[in-house]
Amino acid sequence: MRLLLVAPPGAGKGTQAAKLADHYGIANLSSGEMLRREVAAGTRIGRLVADDLRQGDLVPDDLVIEMLAMPVLQAVRDGGYVLDGFPRTLRQAEEAYRVAQQVEGIELQAVVSLNVSREELQRRLLDRAHQENRSDDTPDTIAHRLEVFDTDTGPLLGFYAQRGLVVDINGEQSVEQVFGDIVSAVDSQRGGQR
Ligand code: AP5
Ligand code: MG
Repeated sequence: MRLLLVAPPGAGKGTQAAKLADHYGIANLSSGEMLRREVAAGTRIGRLVADDLRQGDLVPDDLVIEMLAMPVLQAVRDGGYVLDGFPRTLRQAEEAYRVAQQVEGIELQAVVSLNVSREELQRRLLDRAHQENRSDDTPDTIAHRLEVFDTDTGPLLGFYAQRGLVVDINGEQSVEQVFGDIVSAVDSQRGGQR
């Protein structure tokens, strides 16, 4: 099983990725979580990306590709992956697609798009700011991250829709309802592919 979640900040990518990884017994690869760990550990990558993360800007494509390449290949050998947050730009998607054509059994099987209204996204992220201590959960940075999604990441959905991979999910339901909808949509999508 090889899945990608494409959705704006606060839509529930991390929440659903954890549940999907558990359900299908696959690796949970979150580019944002991995980058935050690099920052916390003060690695070379961490030092290079800390400012971008805090400001809600995307980090350079090459860095993310460097960071994800090995874990994705390993996950494929171990039975699959759910990607949360990568690819996130058309360039990343094109690069991933180029690599996928050279490696057997690595290409995406479904791209899950979680639809949530702007007001609800803002509400969830401001709520989370009180619980977690993410450097990018401030009102201004949240607004900026939403803009970055619209300009840089939204177009990915067109790229994947052309390839017949996108499943649209109402993300504005309970966590369990969203999860149930994703699993039925993904399972029937894969049934159709066989
Ligand atoms: P990333 O970590 O991917 O952050 P994001 O896209 O801004 O998304 P969030 O993690 O804020 O939200 P989420 O969709 O995971 O929602 P969650 O489940 O937490 O990226 C961070 C940064 O890293 C980027 O800005 C960029 O700098 C960099 N980066 C990452 N990938 C990159 C890439 N490929 N290229 C370049 N740069 C990259 O849910 C949100 C809240 O809502 C939680 O509190 C949760 O409990 C709650 N919630 C979840 N579901 C529900 C529900 N159904 N009902 C009610 N509440 C819910
Ligand atoms: Mg997340």
